Amino acid sequence: MSRVRRKVAIGVTVAAMLAVSACSSSTSTSGSSASTGAAATKDVQVFTWWAAGGEKAGLDGLQTVFKKDCSQYNFVNAAVAGGGGDKAKTLLANNLKAGNAPSSFQAHAGGELSDYIANGQVEDITSEFKADGLDTAFPPELVKQITVGGKVYSVPANIHRANMVWVNPVVLKKANLDPAKAPATVKDWIADLAKLKAAGVTTPLVLSKGFAEEMLLESTLLGDLGVQKFNGLYDGTTKWDGADVTAALNDFKTLESYSNTDRDTMDWDAAMSKYLLPTNPASATGGYQLMGDWVPAQILSLNMPTSAYKYWPAPGTNGVYQWLSDSFTLPKGGTNPEGAKCWLKVVGSAEGQKAFNTVKGSIPARSDATPAGYPAYQQWAMAQWKASKLAPSLAHGSAGPGAWNNDVQTAMSAFSANPDVATLQKSLVAAANKYSNWRSTLG
Ligand code: BGC
Repeated sequence: MSRVRRKVAIGVTVAAMLAVSACSSSTSTSGSSASTGAAATKDVQVFTWWAAGGEKAGLDGLQTVFKKDCSQYNFVNAAVAGGGGDKAKTLLANNLKAGNAPSSFQAHAGGELSDYIANGQVEDITSEFKADGLDTAFPPELVKQITVGGKVYSVPANIHRANMVWVNPVVLKKANLDPAKAPATVKDWIADLAKLKAAGVTTPLVLSKGFAEEMLLESTLLGDLGVQKFNGLYDGTTKWDGADVTAALNDFKTLESYSNTDRDTMDWDAAMSKYLLPTNPASATGGYQLMGDWVPAQILSLNMPTSAYKYWPAPGTNGVYQWLSDSFTLPKGGTNPEGAKCWLKVVGSAEGQKAFNTVKGSIPARSDATPAGYPAYQQWAMAQWKASKLAPSLAHGSAGPGAWNNDVQTAMSAFSANPDVATLQKSLVAAANKYSNWRSTLG
């Protein structure tokens, strides 16, 4: 185990451990604890951060198929709320370290999963994966992101896209901007934000805490540097201390200056409902929100019409799919491994992926899925996925390990409080120096 990965697992606080038990039992749909009595052998405790809205709708979809196909087991919802898994991931690390693994937990394919593999916290599921035909059901590049040393460690449920902007057409009209037309570049977007501000729009850019700021940073880097150089930031071929990165960070600073000043107090869905798409459309004060494509699922869960918003890839990133994939694991020492295997079968099945992705905003990870029966957004996204170049996301675990992400998020909140580009760049360089060789630390 590398030193980096050991560090991720350390840092247990009693308060955090208490918090996870409290949240888990309060969100349990079966109302029973996974670890007590005769029910323990039947319960399959599934740990995610899909606690509400479109995210819960997705989990409910999977649960429905599980109830049918795995009727000998009880589904126990151990979701811990918090966008991007900010709380869930810390609590999970603590629980795994304390020997309290759930039956299965959500982990992003790529760097984030590699943490759990390197820590010896997840089982090799290669034989089940092959027996279910999953080795050929998913795109080979995705299978690579869940494989280490020839062994497979998780089952992907979906593909999400991070580099998306969601637009309020009514607000944009105040500055005579065409809501359906994406600005071509980051600089063009900044010009439009200035127009909105001049037209009296109070929150031209809707922003929320933590991972949302990191996503805006990553989209700005992707838009300004282009896909090849951006990918180089994560494979070591592009320098984080370069002048082109400095220029992108300055653009990021300008973008952030058009956002709500209460950004560090709220999560992405609260910011969306407060500024971009409030229940009363006439009270909207936000023009754009950069966020992953769990947004259309959230809007659907709020029963808002699709005419209420427009969307496009972040300026400068058209033709690039900044991907991430939620996958599920079989933890070492987890409760009810046989029940968990039944859950993993559902997650990887064509039926499970459809029940989940139609209401989650993401597209199925399986290559045999067809657009029929999906909302218009996912139909468009499926076509985009086939035609786009790929870039990973650090904010959502595909580009690097959790410890790298944590360092960048710390730098982001420092920047939000005191926007100094030189300090931010220094922190980004330090984080990359610490973690960019993460692939080589795997066996
Ligand atoms: C997950 C998505 C989730 C989003 C917001 C991402 O990290 O991959 O499934 O909807 O966070 O919570």
